[in-house]
Amino acid sequence: MTFSVEQTSVGPRRHGSAAEAEVLRAHAEDAFAAELAALAARDDRPRPARWRLSPWAVATYLLGGTLADGTVITPKYVGPRRIVEVAVTTLATDRALLLLGVPGTAKTWVSEHLAAAVSGDSTLLVQGTAGTPEEAIRYGWNYARLLAHGPSRDALVPSPVMRAMADGTTVRVEELTRIPADVQDTLITILSEKTLPIPELGQEVQAVRGFNLIATANDRDRGVNDLSSALRRRFNTVVLPLPETPEAEVDIVSRRVDQIGRSLDLPAATDGIDEIRRVVTVFRELRDGVTTDGRTKLKSPSGTLSTAEAISVVTNGLALAAHFGDGVLRAGDVAAGIQGAVVRDPAADRVVWQEYLETVVRERDGWTDFYRACREAGA
Ligand SMILES: Nc1ncnc2c1ncn2[C@@H]1O[C@H](COP(=O)(O)OP(=O)(O)O)[C@@H](O)[C@H]1O
Ligand SMILES: [Mg+2]
Repeated sequence: MTFSVEQTSVGPRRHGSAAEAEVLRAHAEDAFAAELAALAARDDRPRPARWRLSPWAVATYLLGGTLADGTVITPKYVGPRRIVEVAVTTLATDRALLLLGVPGTAKTWVSEHLAAAVSGDSTLLVQGTAGTPEEAIRYGWNYARLLAHGPSRDALVPSPVMRAMADGTTVRVEELTRIPADVQDTLITILSEKTLPIPELGQEVQAVRGFNLIATANDRDRGVNDLSSALRRRFNTVVLPLPETPEAEVDIVSRRVDQIGRSLDLPAATDGIDEIRRVVTVFRELRDGVTTDGRTKLKSPSGTLSTAEAISVVTNGLALAAHFGDGVLRAGDVAAGIQGAVVRDPAADRVVWQEYLETVVRERDGWTDFYRACREAGA
């Protein structure tokens, strides 16, 4: 039996409303509406059922490029082209996509942009936690209606997954491996049979063409609620790597800081490119456990010093420079932030940081200002 899924009580999403200009963080499909429209207009390659764009155009949206008419598509993801091509292609098959990687490798970011480009909607989202119930993946009930009228379509509250199945769109599951194993396994029938039974009504929702699912999972959670092999088989896994070179990482950080800064009315980040390089250098050296020149071995701190963290250190530094400095990003504006990111565990990490400061930072040409700023910040 077929079954249609209605909007939630919150009502349909309003695109381009007046309130949108004021939202703190626009959805990808709204923030990049102009790029998506330009791509759709020029895109003459075949599109899978219910896709807004062809796989080629989705990849171009993610990786950036210039269209024949000169329209510039900004890169969202900076990384190996092949990764994006495999991810996009997977979504056009009957297998779901699992984005795997250490924290801060843009798993969530890529999944949002993929959903925006493929389905024009990145908002169908299940946030995985240790407390995610089965209802978040299947459906729940509006208890007032259930008690008043018994089980009926009206009393049923569809999950984002159910909506995506009914509409033939993309749904996202964040942090899949944090979800308890038995709840995760709810996805097996959905992904293999492409159907979601509703025994209470003797009905089912059958996924229509265009439906697919993007899950993200953290490498470090491995072993917490590891995916069952039955579920893993339903996914194509794509591993998102840390940026290969310092230049690539500096590029990612400055792009993102620039975007975030503009939305917060902070000064342009290009002024601070030297500080950005420094933040990236410190993070990479501590992460890799060795200095850039390969000469000095270092201890690594307990936390992940990801690109995402570098972005937030620099953004905070810019805010400091804008509000309390001369508007130019300087060593003193990033010192405290870096230290906060490195020293997670007050005992062990402090020793690591101190040692790095004294043996590497102190001796490095042109880093005196940074060394002083770190000492002042209380190292
Ligand atoms: N390779 C990359 N290309 C573009 N942005 C990146 C890259 N790596 C990290 N980022 C940025 O890092 C931030 C955090 O990424 P996020 O998706 O939350 O990480 P994850 O979900 O993997 O923990 C995002 O703002 C994203 O733009
Ligand atoms: Mg994430």
